[in-house]
Amino acid sequence: MALSFEGRVVLVTGSGGGLGREYALAFAERGASVVVNDLGADTKGGGKSSAAADKVVEEIRAKGGKAVANYDSVEDGEKVIQTALDAFGRIDVVVNNAGILRDRSFARTSDLDWDLIQRVHLRGSFLVTRAAWNHMKKQKFGRIIMTASAAGIYGNFGQANYSAAKLGLLGLANTLAIEGGKYNIHCNTIAPVAGSRLTETVMTPELVASLKPEYVAPVVLWLCHEQCQESGSLFEAGAGWIAKLRWERTQGAIVRQKNQNMTPEAVRDQWDKITDFTDATKPSSTQDSVQHMMTVLSGLESDGEVGANATAAAASASGVNPAEAVGQKLPPSTFVFTPTQCILYALGVGMSTKDPDHLRFLYEGHEDFSCLPTFGVIASQAAMMSGGLNSVPGLNIDFTQVLHGEQYLELYKPLPTSGALTSQSTVADVLDKGSGAVILLDVNTYSGDELICFNQFSVFVVGAGGFGGRRNSEKAKAALPPPKRAPDVVVIDSTTRDQAALYRLSGDWNPLHIDPSFAAMGGFKAPILHGLCSFGFAARHVLKQFADNDPSRFKAIKVRFAKPVMPGQSLQTEMWKEGNRIHLQCKVKETDSVVLAGAYVDLHGASEASPENLTQPEALQSELVFAEIGRRIEDSGSELVKKVNAVVAWEITKDNKNAAQWTIDLKNGSGSLHKGPSSGKADVTITVSDEDFIEVVQGRLNPQKAFFTGKLKVRGNIMLTQKLEVILKDHAKL
Ligand code: NAI
Repeated sequence: MALSFEGRVVLVTGSGGGLGREYALAFAERGASVVVNDLGADTKGGGKSSAAADKVVEEIRAKGGKAVANYDSVEDGEKVIQTALDAFGRIDVVVNNAGILRDRSFARTSDLDWDLIQRVHLRGSFLVTRAAWNHMKKQKFGRIIMTASAAGIYGNFGQANYSAAKLGLLGLANTLAIEGGKYNIHCNTIAPVAGSRLTETVMTPELVASLKPEYVAPVVLWLCHEQCQESGSLFEAGAGWIAKLRWERTQGAIVRQKNQNMTPEAVRDQWDKITDFTDATKPSSTQDSVQHMMTVLSGLESDGEVGANATAAAASASGVNPAEAVGQKLPPSTFVFTPTQCILYALGVGMSTKDPDHLRFLYEGHEDFSCLPTFGVIASQAAMMSGGLNSVPGLNIDFTQVLHGEQYLELYKPLPTSGALTSQSTVADVLDKGSGAVILLDVNTYSGDELICFNQFSVFVVGAGGFGGRRNSEKAKAALPPPKRAPDVVVIDSTTRDQAALYRLSGDWNPLHIDPSFAAMGGFKAPILHGLCSFGFAARHVLKQFADNDPSRFKAIKVRFAKPVMPGQSLQTEMWKEGNRIHLQCKVKETDSVVLAGAYVDLHGASEASPENLTQPEALQSELVFAEIGRRIEDSGSELVKKVNAVVAWEITKDNKNAAQWTIDLKNGSGSLHKGPSSGKADVTITVSDEDFIEVVQGRLNPQKAFFTGKLKVRGNIMLTQKLEVILKDHAKL
């Protein structure tokens, strides 16, 4: 379909001749009401005449089009826009095209040469566009064109003033595209080439004649049409050729070393790498740029686990003096992060796109994008990682002998997904455990003045005990044993061979977790997983099972690190619900040894999604159907297992919240049904509301239709759903 501008009001500045005139004619031909603005100046900005604009208006009207003239300079932006409002009642499109030249070699460029060029091109485009902006915002539609030039993009001899103004317009357009985005105001920049009075001094007459302005007008029209979604882009256009330009960036080089001064010599030595465009990237936003630097920063500023600070080892193991150390503050540390760090952390603690409900922690574009609550330790550990404990008087200890003993984290509000968090750390207590000392480090982490979270690190220093101190402290957040009954829920999750290699990127660079020879020095067969990585696994298991992955329900977590985990082993998290406290214990499945002990997670008050409500059978109609399914499985012997051979998990929702989970296991033994999530891996998981489940079972809702309309969601092996007919045979064809 032809692109129409019927009903649109278009202003083209400087449209008394050259490119502008061509745009004005083209817009008018397609139904637009056009304001033909032109001061009627000469190419250097001198003189003034209404003739140029009048002539174009006449041309348009002669062809039956709608146009009015405006003779103001673009420096009178308000007046120019007022003409559009007076004549046509609105303004939809602004093409900033007016321009002059005052070419001089740079040394001879006068103040006036400089100022006039900036005033007409840059300031003029600013003033006209600003005058139109609020009208566009209110009507939630606007299309703006800035006119740049190859001289600005690439430079051109004798055009320093003009080049500066022209590339200034690109910067202006880039920001307007961002600010206008949500109002459907798009802003793009073109660098045209056409024969006109501006170019007739530099081009041959043949070229002026053949590079017709009408070869540029179509791209301007398209960019200004309501169908065009392009914004914030730059195009070269001429001779019928149109191309888009963007930035390219080398991989670059990090020229700074951890804890060392940065030098110009290092820059010189890395120059080839800094300027090598092999594998160049194409950044497209300020975020791209900042995020990259943040990643570099987090790599350089965090210093590995305390134990890694071998070089800063204190002189003797008996140098602990609680009277001196307790109450000492560490230098405050600031942790700056972006969604990249939150996502990297989520991947580090084993989240995966395999689980659709993990996406809110893995995708910054997700509507509920959130940071995992246990990321709170990452922001706070920076204080300690940078060797802060070394500087504390009264803690004259061997930091190669340090182990992470316990961790407590409490959140006062959900963590932001980016920002700067500042941590204040205090030595809360130093305990004498005989074989070693325990340092309790309390860390309060703030966003501005607001307290976001509290961490207590319990650091065990082997061989530093026996200084005659107290054994226990009322300041310690205590670990608690789990109830003496079988766990309510068990989740098994495997870590990958590269789990530690991935987790360390969140800021704990201790070589113990990656370097085999370093691990061997510490007496380990191979690099071990970070204790705080298993901690992250366990915490997200609780969050999923008992809080519907809602970070705002997370209050606190306490764990004791009992034994190391090797990357690649499976973690078995056993959970017991006692009110809002979920006790937990984490084992390595392969060895059955407990790795996280005395642990618990406290949740905030449960909503109707809470597990308590899951046990109100009368609230859900599907309960009866499942009870029936259970009876059939029992009656069938192993018949159904042979036919189906799959584990099917069900998530029944009510009012858009998880209301019950059921697992039909027709794979193991003679089959079974149990309430709750599957402890192993389900082959298929079906999510459906209680009401729709009944509709389907009673044959009133076609299951395929339910699937395609999103009423019934299937994860895993979709083909298996066909076998469900066997299970629900008299009831439905699900
Ligand atoms: P042109 O000289 O034919 O048209 C510019 C028009 O702007 C003239 O009619 C002039 O009277 C008007 N004008 C000058 N100062 C004004 C002011 N203060 N207020 C209102 N109107 C004013 O030149 P051309 O070639 O059509 O250029 C149009 C735009 O394209 C300019 O911004 C120019 O810098 C740019 N451009 C043109 C190239 C080309 O190859 N023709 C190359 C790169 C950029």
